[in-house]
Amino acid sequence: MKILVVGDIVGSPGRTIFARIATRMKQAGEVDCVVANAENAAGGRGITPALADELFAAGADVLTMGDHTWDQKDLADYIISEPRLIRPANFPSVCPGKGFVTVETDKGPVSVINLIGRVFMPPNDCPFRKADAVLSHGVEGSKVILVDMHAEATSENIAMGRYLEGRVSAVFGTHTHVQTSDETILPKGTAYITDLGMTGPKDSVLGRDVEAVLHKFVTGMPTRFDVASGDVRLEGIILEIDENTGKATSITRIREA
Ligand SMILES: [Fe+2]
Ligand SMILES: [Fe+2]
Repeated sequence: MKILVVGDIVGSPGRTIFARIATRMKQAGEVDCVVANAENAAGGRGITPALADELFAAGADVLTMGDHTWDQKDLADYIISEPRLIRPANFPSVCPGKGFVTVETDKGPVSVINLIGRVFMPPNDCPFRKADAVLSHGVEGSKVILVDMHAEATSENIAMGRYLEGRVSAVFGTHTHVQTSDETILPKGTAYITDLGMTGPKDSVLGRDVEAVLHKFVTGMPTRFDVASGDVRLEGIILEIDENTGKATSITRIREA
């Protein structure tokens, strides 16, 4: 099966290009499943129920989140009622929503697990032990398993890739908004990339208006970061996975205008 996996969708420019490309690829039968990180979909800050519905209608099968999960106050009720929107599994276990889901596709079930890193990020439960727990109680029985590791440090993502190697179909990083060129199939058959990149305006600082970010860095003063608008790109990967074994057979980095 072929799966499109899309890096952090930022604001209206990101949503627009995601809708165009995901709809086209699905209608053309180029991919069987679409997974996207949507933690910046609402003006860069979280996602609203209406925008999540919009991304599902555009072709997303699963939406993952990250440190911006709770930026929009309406999300807590929605995430309980919409299992295809997942938040990091290693958030406190009492918070709403789930950190994994299994969805049906024409080529069979696909499980997605969302984790968040702990290096240079706010404290959360251990993503490594939580991954073990979800693999044995959550997505057990699934062959095709994808892991979104939402993290700042490249080392933590690489370590997670090697930790889960041979146990899941793919581990991909999100959060930095900068696409890495280290996509590979690890020796035990797991596809890996340290960061998928960003889906939004490239003429920006991580999707935000350049002048606003420069003002913050240069003056140290509080600054409102609006989403930029220029040179919009969709970044991510296309995975080919043998649905009978769960092993990845190819990983291709994409950047589409
Ligand atoms: Fe993030
Ligand atoms: Fe992000």
